[in-house]
Amino acid sequence: MPIWTDKHDLQVTASSEQTVQTLDQFGDGLLGFTTQVDIIVDLADTDHDCPVAQAYAAQFFASAETADGMQKAQAYLSRAKALAPHALPREQAIIQAAEHWCKTERRSAAKVLEQVLDDHPTDIITAKWAQALHFDTGNPAGILRAPLKVAAACDANPYLHGMLAFGYEECHLLDDAERAVHRAVSLNRAEPWAHHAMAHVNEARNTMDVGIQFMMDVSDTWTGLTSFMTTHNWWHVCLFLIDLDRGHEALDIYDQTIWALNQNCVQDQINGISLLYRLERIGLDVGNRWHGLAAQVAANASSQVSVFLDFQFLYALARAEHSDAPKMVDRMIARADTASEDEKVAWVRVAAPAASGVLALANKDYVTAAQQFAQALPFLQCIGGSHAQRDLFELFYLDALRGSEQWAPAQQILAMRHLGRPGVSWLKTQLQEAYDNLGLGQVLTGPT
Ligand SMILES: [Fe+2]
Repeated sequence: MPIWTDKHDLQVTASSEQTVQTLDQFGDGLLGFTTQVDIIVDLADTDHDCPVAQAYAAQFFASAETADGMQKAQAYLSRAKALAPHALPREQAIIQAAEHWCKTERRSAAKVLEQVLDDHPTDIITAKWAQALHFDTGNPAGILRAPLKVAAACDANPYLHGMLAFGYEECHLLDDAERAVHRAVSLNRAEPWAHHAMAHVNEARNTMDVGIQFMMDVSDTWTGLTSFMTTHNWWHVCLFLIDLDRGHEALDIYDQTIWALNQNCVQDQINGISLLYRLERIGLDVGNRWHGLAAQVAANASSQVSVFLDFQFLYALARAEHSDAPKMVDRMIARADTASEDEKVAWVRVAAPAASGVLALANKDYVTAAQQFAQALPFLQCIGGSHAQRDLFELFYLDALRGSEQWAPAQQILAMRHLGRPGVSWLKTQLQEAYDNLGLGQVLTGPT
């Protein structure tokens, strides 16, 4: 089988040069979160002799994190494995990673891809896949390390700096993250992952005004992107709006963008779920939106592909009083029994105790919710997601404490948050409520 060289100076086995050119286009789509990423499916269906195209198609479907996606991935993985004996060593490793990913062994997949990066420091596509896997497994150091391994060779590529920016932010290296964002947008103003990293930087710094201004200034470039990237950047705008006491504007964004682009996309669904929860808990009436969400989420409630996703699906179902919610708890607990070593902590230490807590929270059984969440929180990071996303579960716990009138631990959480964000009115209101119930009503929580 012929061997070609792609735009990243990497050797690729394929039946034609056209395949390699299309692979390059796919890579640009993957890095830039554009809808062009879909071309990998047609390519893999057309050229059955390109191992990397088959492996990428498998990873593309596996990364959708749905039962349907995992099932579709299998055919491409089978083709890739059949080609493996005659593939190049780098290609063989990518196939091995795809096989791990298709078994939801994400940590193992990331480890294999990192080894590829050690030998191929121009392979920014592999760095992108590795960063996604580290993100899914709550590994901030990995989120940063993967792009750093290709940083020297790919310095002129704006997408490298977007990846670095996010990695630095997840490692709490905020100044480094901001520098990387500026480098990315100086190379390409429309780099959406860099925009996203800047939102995280401002979220972490509690500079909501700066964050919202930055995101609004670049939002005109959010065209032609995957629905996840568009809705997730708008979700970050909504987080700023909530803390600026502009929740009604966030609800408008929910209607106009977050729940208007692609209701089938699980990432869009969780953007919607976590936004509605945040809005409702500060007193906004979100109407019947939970029912619209639950109707779409129900299709994914049996997948058990990701604890991080499942918690949010479960809350939406339970909040909408969907009959499948208690059964989903049972399925999540059963999934813990069959979890591989790779994902055991996430399912056993987090999902199994906290699933019933999510259901209890939605049913206003706050005592049970607080008990169940308390068991899971020390291990929460391993279920993946960003700091900002996982904060939803910290809020679940906080609200369970408040609902069960456990004011002493609630005050501790609220006071720490208030320290960083003294101007946020919902924090001041909830903290004052805690003080009132602790016989400390005279304690002032500062200006709004
Ligand atoms: Fe984010």
